Amino acid sequence: MNLLEVDNLRVRFTTPDGEVTAVNNMTFSLKAGETLGLVGESGSGKSQTAFALMGLLAKNGIIEGSARFEGREILGLSEAELNKVRAEQIAMIFQDPMTSLNPYMKIGPQLMEVLQLHKGMSKKEAFEESVRMLDAVKIPEARKRMQMYPHEFSGGMRQRVMIAMALLCRPKLLIADEPTTALDVTVQAQIMDLLNELKSEFNTAIIMITHDLGVIAGICNKVLVMYAGRTMEYGTTDELFYDPHHPYSRGLLEAIPRLDTQGEVLTTIPGNPPNLLSLPTGCPFQDRCLNAKSRCYQEAPPLETFGTGRQKACFWTPDSPLAGSAA
Ligand SMILES: Nc1ncnc2c1ncn2[C@@H]1O[C@H](COP(=O)(O)OP(=O)(O)OP(=O)(O)O)[C@@H](O)[C@H]1O
Ligand SMILES: [Mg+2]
Repeated sequence: MNLLEVDNLRVRFTTPDGEVTAVNNMTFSLKAGETLGLVGESGSGKSQTAFALMGLLAKNGIIEGSARFEGREILGLSEAELNKVRAEQIAMIFQDPMTSLNPYMKIGPQLMEVLQLHKGMSKKEAFEESVRMLDAVKIPEARKRMQMYPHEFSGGMRQRVMIAMALLCRPKLLIADEPTTALDVTVQAQIMDLLNELKSEFNTAIIMITHDLGVIAGICNKVLVMYAGRTMEYGTTDELFYDPHHPYSRGLLEAIPRLDTQGEVLTTIPGNPPNLLSLPTGCPFQDRCLNAKSRCYQEAPPLETFGTGRQKACFWTPDSPLAGSAA
């Protein structure tokens, strides 16, 4: 059975200028222990997809569709039920660790509070378990650091504390929203290594949200490429890296910095994502697409399945796999 099954998820926002559909009929699933990468440029709907699942949408947001976690519908749960799901079953790491840490409270009590509340642990048990978790995320001198405030940690260490906090109740699913973008490249790599280790240690399924396909390669089993709130392409990481079928995926792949091409100018996809308030008729990627034909301006390509469970929303078919791309 799938751990998570998302079916035709839609998120609409009413704004003074009109209605925007930030997440448009997203369908995907995740098995226990699997890692799915959700990739796309800024504004493509990655965070709103996650917020919808966590019940964290802004007040002007409207959700449609379905999301089942272990068979149970989680869209539209009451706040009390959501609080239970959020702490014990699905945890989320935010881009900025300070959004989830209380700056006025020492790290130790913040971690312990979670365990005392959700796991009914005594103070002593909660202390020991928190130290164990800080050790697991490789924070040196964990016992001593329990007495420190969030601002006394470096950015990378704070992100580790966040990960520890998210994993405290051993959730089955972890949603990591750009967990490393605020960090420098070396620290970024360390955090990704850590997530990889923790994933096998705790068998946690992960939804990894990023605008950087480079982050996906080392950790994800499957990748979903989003654009203007929709799925553009979906497949295994290998399929997507070696044989991308959507011109947008190809563009994102070409934008990954590579060690062997150091010094060369990095390609970015020319142009900008469309304004969700005035989407064009046809494919939302039309203006930036190297392969756009007149049909692409008239009708939006439906999401179709090909190969073994791959999906794409594009009329174009590549002649050959992308030469030289490496996962
Ligand atoms: N409360 C809101 N009201 C209206 N529009 C919103 C609201 N929240 C988000 N949006 C819009 O929804 C779209 C998707 O936003 P989302 O935060 O999911 O993007 P993202 O893919 O996470 O981008 P980033 O990489 O910048 O984090 C954006 O166009 C955004 O402006
Ligand atoms: Mg986001």
